[in-house]
Amino acid sequence: MSVNPDLVRACHIQARACERFGSPFNGALLDRIAADLEAGGPTVRLFARWSDAGLKALFDDAVPIRIANTFNHLAMGGEDPALTAAWPRPGVAWAVDRAWAAARAAIGPHTAMLSAFLDHEPQTNEVRRAGGLLGGFLTVAAEARLPLRCFEIGASAGLNQFWDRFRYDMGAVAWGDPASPVTIDGDWEGGAPPLPAVDVVERGACDRRPTELTDPVQRRRLLACIWPDQFERVERSRRAIDLALASGVRVDAADALDWTRAHVAPRPGAATVLYHSVFWHYLPAATQAGLASAIADLGARATAEAPFAWLRFEPAPDDMALIEVRLTLWPSGAERVLAHAHPHGAWIRWLG
Ligand SMILES: C[S@@+](CC[C@H](N)C(=O)[O-])C[C@H]1O[C@@H](n2cnc3c(N)ncnc32)[C@H](O)[C@@H]1O
Repeated sequence: MSVNPDLVRACHIQARACERFGSPFNGALLDRIAADLEAGGPTVRLFARWSDAGLKALFDDAVPIRIANTFNHLAMGGEDPALTAAWPRPGVAWAVDRAWAAARAAIGPHTAMLSAFLDHEPQTNEVRRAGGLLGGFLTVAAEARLPLRCFEIGASAGLNQFWDRFRYDMGAVAWGDPASPVTIDGDWEGGAPPLPAVDVVERGACDRRPTELTDPVQRRRLLACIWPDQFERVERSRRAIDLALASGVRVDAADALDWTRAHVAPRPGAATVLYHSVFWHYLPAATQAGLASAIADLGARATAEAPFAWLRFEPAPDDMALIEVRLTLWPSGAERVLAHAHPHGAWIRWLG
């Protein structure tokens, strides 16, 4: 079976990205996987479905990260005790060569499970992005002086639907219930946003392919997409999952454009907020244009008694690795970049 040099390259590129975003383990693991592919090891057969794929197609389908996640998924489940024992866990120093040796040995006995995981597009839901969105929600609440109606598109499992039930401990920004089971603790740079109390009177969410948190199989898949040496992220997500389930999370399975047209409209007595994070660039150009036009129509219907806000946590146009928190608030339609942020919310730089 021939080795796809683009797949090898893709693994190395993804490895550097994982290191850059705080997962040295995944970086080192992906380098080992690339070396195994080049040496004609068991990964060649496991990843044979991508033996002809070019670099762009590999990244369009998030293949390198699927590959890393599939071993994490197996290690998390405990079906291969040697792999689980060698995998990163809190309080124990990990050794990537030991972990990779166990992962490589697991390929034969667990091919079916590893392959089944590879069938799925990676699905993530990053709770700490709420730390970036928070400043936007607070700005809307402070300026509109009204309760909020919050509608999220591309919500994944819907964990950030309950952003107002998290505790935020981010330096200058301390907000929310100190007894919340979920703490958002990114580093806050710059001044603080207004910090009013906020009443969320209605919430809704959609995703083209929501993760159903009541299903343990889907829950495990979601957690497997968090990089294995980022224990804090895993723990925060577990707590947010429990909170979401206890709060009656619901994410409608729908395309964002259809759903926005059907469910979102300004209403007197509350400020209506449409928000999304790390979602926009997944949309085809026609859907982006359709949504932008639907949002402009909603803005045109807004009044002082029924304001409408579009809040987004999305890559800057010229730098995919830099996130902008951008807010447009109608009836004035004023648009501003409130903050820059790390893609996973590890830091927020408030621009106000
Ligand atoms: C990278 S995830 C981000 C999820 C979540 N917003 C977060 O920040 O953790 C992007 C999400 O957008 C969803 N998505 C992509 N295209 C969509 C569409 N046309 N309509 C609704 N959801 C879509 C995907 O299913 C996925 O859950």
